[in-house]
Amino acid sequence: MFANKVVLVTGGSSGIGAAAVEGFAKEGAFVAFVGRNETKLKAVAERCGANTFPIKADIAKDEEAKTIVAKTIEKFGKLDVLVNNAGISRIVGLSDPNILDAFDLIMNTNLRAVVLLTNLAIPYLKETKGNIVNVSSVASTTIPSLMDGFVSYCVSKAGLDQFTRGAAKEFASFGVRVNSVNPGPVITDMAVNSGIDNVPDDDMMKNITALGRASDADEVSDLIQYLASDKARSVTGSCFVIDNGMLLK
Ligand SMILES: NC(=O)c1ccc[n+]([C@@H]2O[C@H](COP(=O)([O-])OP(=O)(O)OC[C@H]3O[C@@H](n4cnc5c(N)ncnc54)[C@H](OP(=O)(O)O)[C@@H]3O)[C@@H](O)[C@H]2O)c1
Repeated sequence: MFANKVVLVTGGSSGIGAAAVEGFAKEGAFVAFVGRNETKLKAVAERCGANTFPIKADIAKDEEAKTIVAKTIEKFGKLDVLVNNAGISRIVGLSDPNILDAFDLIMNTNLRAVVLLTNLAIPYLKETKGNIVNVSSVASTTIPSLMDGFVSYCVSKAGLDQFTRGAAKEFASFGVRVNSVNPGPVITDMAVNSGIDNVPDDDMMKNITALGRASDADEVSDLIQYLASDKARSVTGSCFVIDNGMLLK
């Protein structure tokens, strides 16, 4: 489905992003992917084959983020799909003295970097009439009851959904589509990677959905692939919920 297409995935060293790298590579794409952890980047590259290209960069730091699109173009010569997937959370309540540090880190990673990477990628996406898939969350429209202290994360994802719609409108006349996937609970290492104490176990994740299950990263990767493919040529500015019915509860 993606033969000879070039895909760039941020946060490809773990979880949903790693599943997306694997999924796109299986479908014939050349895949550049980004993370900070060299060991994890290398493991994904080894698993996904020679057409994948790990890029070590911290997207929350402008100087590092600015190298990502340039390195992708240098390696593969064009860009067809940008998947803005990298994201973090912190559990810090609004009464906590550290709230602004947590808020800034979350916003820089989950939203500001998306703006910067979109800005850098768009000239190349216009050339290929490519598209962008952002990885948002159901937390863009609800405050999950799993634990308190999620507000900064929820605000970042609410902003990301509005960014998706705004970018879709701005780029539509160039034939560039922009959409998001908005997962509910997905079984990944996100809570551990985000340094969250009392990590919710799989059963807690399942209990907050109507279907009584949490998704595997592959299921979200499949939806990302659909939106990035020509099958979704009539879809832009849409935020696709994939939450096992969490929003129904
Ligand atoms: N898991 C869920 O239940 C769930 C639900 C809804 C939405 N989401 C969203 O799905 C996306 C992926 O999350 P996940 O569950 O797959 O989590 P994950 O396993 O922790 O993966 C997060 C990825 O983002 C990368 N990353 C984080 N900060 C970065 C930075 N500053 N610079 C570069 N890379 C960075 C990490 O790479 P390094 O560690 O190598 O830097 C890692 O590859 C996030 O946007 C998250 O908000 C997750």
